Order: sequence, then structure tokens, then C-alpha cells
Amino acid sequence: MKMDYDIIVVVDFGGQYSHLICRRIRELGVRTELVPYQTAVEFISENSEKVKGVILSGGPASVYLDNSPKIDLSNLAGKPVLGICYGLQLIAYQLGGEVEKVEKREYGKAQIKILSNSPLFQGLPSEFNVWMSHSDAVTKLPAGFKRIAESTNSSNAAIQSLDGKIYGVQFHPEVAHTENGKNILANFLFNICGAQPNWSMENYAERVVEDIRRTVGDRRVLCAVSGGVDSTVAAVLTAKAIGGNLTCVFVNHGLLRKNEAEEVLRIYGEVLRLPNLIYIDASERFLAKLRGVKDPEEKRRIIGREFAEIFEEINARHGPFEFLVQGTLYPDVIESGESRAGAARIKTHHNVGGLPKGIRFKLVEPLRELYKDEVRRLADTLGVPIEIAHRHPFPGPGLAARIIGEITEEKLTVCREAGYIVEEELKKAGLYDKVWQAFAVVGDDKATGVKGDERSHGYIVTIRIVESEDGMTANWAKLPYEILEKIANRITNEIENVTWVAYSITPKPPATIEPQ
Ligand code: XMP
Repeated sequence: MKMDYDIIVVVDFGGQYSHLICRRIRELGVRTELVPYQTAVEFISENSEKVKGVILSGGPASVYLDNSPKIDLSNLAGKPVLGICYGLQLIAYQLGGEVEKVEKREYGKAQIKILSNSPLFQGLPSEFNVWMSHSDAVTKLPAGFKRIAESTNSSNAAIQSLDGKIYGVQFHPEVAHTENGKNILANFLFNICGAQPNWSMENYAERVVEDIRRTVGDRRVLCAVSGGVDSTVAAVLTAKAIGGNLTCVFVNHGLLRKNEAEEVLRIYGEVLRLPNLIYIDASERFLAKLRGVKDPEEKRRIIGREFAEIFEEINARHGPFEFLVQGTLYPDVIESGESRAGAARIKTHHNVGGLPKGIRFKLVEPLRELYKDEVRRLADTLGVPIEIAHRHPFPGPGLAARIIGEITEEKLTVCREAGYIVEEELKKAGLYDKVWQAFAVVGDDKATGVKGDERSHGYIVTIRIVESEDGMTANWAKLPYEILEKIANRITNEIENVTWVAYSITPKPPATIEPQ
């Protein structure tokens, strides 16, 4: 299919919100490309017909320093430009204005006042709150520009060129704290650039499938699928692109949730029909290696090593494969500290599949521009069943992350059964989709209980239910007591050797989401 969508280019100057700008543009139904400043001019000239406008992102540098990142505005083919923060300062500085360090860094909420009728602010109130984060400011406008908004601390909170082609804002319209931020971006996209809102998750999927096909050609690709939304969507997209050249492997390490392996296999086989699906039940192998091990890091290392060996065996038996598909998301890219312009790198913290050193796979990462909720929408678009599309994140080491101390059959059963009750009660109450993760934790501590007439000594189960945007920070969910009570009652009634149930009320930070 021919893909002729308008593109808004976001030029990346290293700002922490550059990706968020892209996300907002996608939400407005327009295709966007985040391009490093070094290659932006080339990209725009190669795609000149499709590029309808250019956004210059924020960034940590100061435009007046020699080595700060810059692009020549005269090379942007006359496209409409919106500079945000550093982008605004770059426009002013390059076109003959002045930018200086401000005495006091402006950070956080500020109120702006609209000063003149600008298409950028069409339909907006004359005053509203925005979010600022800068230590430099435009102190003199370039010739041919006017001020269109001011704030208490920034007299040039927003500017535009008199010909209506170039705009700049000192604040961040892309962050949620800026009121009307999305309307400002919409005004730029639709009123100023004349872009068409014809971009959707379907289009996105088409483009990604096309990209995979081009990258991989007719070479063979391996994808480890876990039953989670990320790896599943990555596999479905790759399957669409290359069909039978893809081999999918689902390894059961014996640390999955209740009924998980059966459910996932059914969906992969009967619903999604993933090509060349190999199921490996390696439960005994993993659990044997983990016997007697208490240290959390050691458990992770063992699981990682075992995965690596299994990969090696699969490659020997079914390969060789040239590419490996990974469901890396944009927040993973940040957490692993990978530079955006740099080459792909496998993250260590969250990638339990510690790849065998002997095999050099090239990576296919079709989701690396997306946030989790976007992947879920993509999953819906691709017909991935809701059980996978909307399932909570689950760590690669599985229940090993939720069992403190040695992993025994008994603790595994407690963790599994209790976790199942937590999820089931949340689903019944319509709250499952409202929280980020919900599970049970078990360790070696025991407490006294009375069941029937007898005193007994049973496990303490800790329930952890958290809300989060992306897993990087999280807070415990303030659930109605009735639900917590129901969960606690069911756990002690239905799981014989549990006597106490606790609720974890520590946010991340200082805690992590998973206890191990
Ligand atoms: P933490 O526990 O670090 O977790 O606050 C943040 C998010 O990542 C998930 N998580 C993992 N995912 N392998 C994974 O694939 C791991 O080793 C791992 N550890 C944590 C966790 O469930 C949460 O969503």
C-alpha cells in the first residue's frame, strides 16, 4: 500500500520532552518523525513533499555557546517552524535576536497572557497556565518578529514572524501541565502547516511492517514471545511483514502466573496464528537451577543464563537466525540510558533474556517509539485479544521477582494462587485496567493464625497494587477497603497455608514495584 501521509518533523536537540511532542502529534492524528538535528535538513529535503512543518525541540544547551547543537533555519525549505524552549531561542539567536542567561531559572507553572491575534493561539483564552523550564531567555527579538505572549518572568513567552511562518514558545505545550497545550500544537499542525489528520494506529502498523520488511528482507528472524503485550505485538507486526521467515519461541520458565502458559499458547496458536511457534516447557530445568538460591540478583542471573542457553539451543536446532525481535518501548530506551541517535543496545536491567554471547543478532525493535498505552492501542488495532492487549506488565523473571528468599514449590503455589485472586477481584470490580500492576508477594516470614479451632503457622502474603504512567515511578492504589477485605478474606480462606495478608503502601521511589 502506498503511504502518503503528511509528516511533521520534530528536530531533536536532546530535550527531555522531544518524544512527548511526537506522542502529542500522533494523538492529533498526524504522522511525525523525530529526527536528530544533525540529519534533519537532509531528511526534510528528501521528504520535502510530505513534510508540512518542523518543530524544533527543547534541549539542555545554550544557543550562544559555540558547540551547542544548531541547524541552519534557511535550509528548512521554507516550511512553517515552531520552536519550543531551546527551539525558540535558536530561532531568535540565528535570525539576529539576542538570547541571554536569566538571573533566576524559571521552572514550573507560569501564567501567560496573549498579546496579539496569532493563529497559534486561535480559539484560546487570553490568559492561562503553562509549564516553563529554562535558564536562558530571548531578550531581543529578531527583525520581522513580534511578541504574541508574555508571562511575569518572560516578556517573550511566545513570538512569531510577521509573515506567519515561524513561531516560538518559551513554555512546553507538550506537557500535561500546560493548559491548552494540545490546542496550541493542533493550531500549528492544522491552521499553520495545513497538515491532514489522517494518521492512525493502522497507518502506524503499516509503516512499521513496511520498515521491518525493508530491514530484514528474506533473512530469518527469531522472536521470543512472553505472553506480554509488547513481545506479542512485536511478533504480530513481524509476522505480517515476513510470515514464515519468522520463528516465535515461548519459553515457560516455571515462574508464570496461574493458567498463563495454556492461555497464551491458545491465543498464539488459535487466534494470532504466530508462524513457526515453538513452545518449550523448561520449568523443571529453571526450578532445579534455582533450588536453594536466596539472593535476588543471583536468581536473576541464573534465569538470564538459562534463557541464554535455551536461545543457543534453539539457534542451533532451528537457526541460524540473523535478526532478533525485541519489544523494547520508548521508556525502556530511556531507562537503559541509550542515546537516541546511537545504535541499538540490549538493555540489561529489564531484559532477562540475557542473550548468548556467542550469537550476534541484529535487533528489530518495532515499538521503540511508543509508550505502553500506545502499544495497547496498537494491539487492539491488530486484533490481539484483550487478555494480552490489556494485561498488566509482568517481569521477565516472572514470579521469581515476587518470591522473597528461596523459590520452593510451596511458595510458588501461594504466590500464584494469591496473585490470581488479586487479579480476579480487581477484574470483577472493574478496576483491573485502572491500575498498573496488581500481585501478591510471599517470603519466608510466617505468622500465627487460628483456622477452625486450631492455631496454625502460615505464610504472610503481601499484596502490591500500584498506579503508574510508565513504571518509572508508581504509587500504591487507594482501593476501597471492601475490595481489599474481599481479597484478604479469599486469600486466607482459599489458600491453606496463609494466615496473614498485608498491603504494601510504599511508592516507587523509594521502593521498586517488584520486591526482588
Ligand atoms: P521495578 O520493580 O524496577 O519495575 O520498579 C518497573 C517495571 O518493570 C518490570 N520489571 C521487569 N520487567 N524484567 C522485566 O521484563 C525484569 O527483570 C523486571 N523487573 C521489573 C516491573 O514489573 C515493573 O512493571
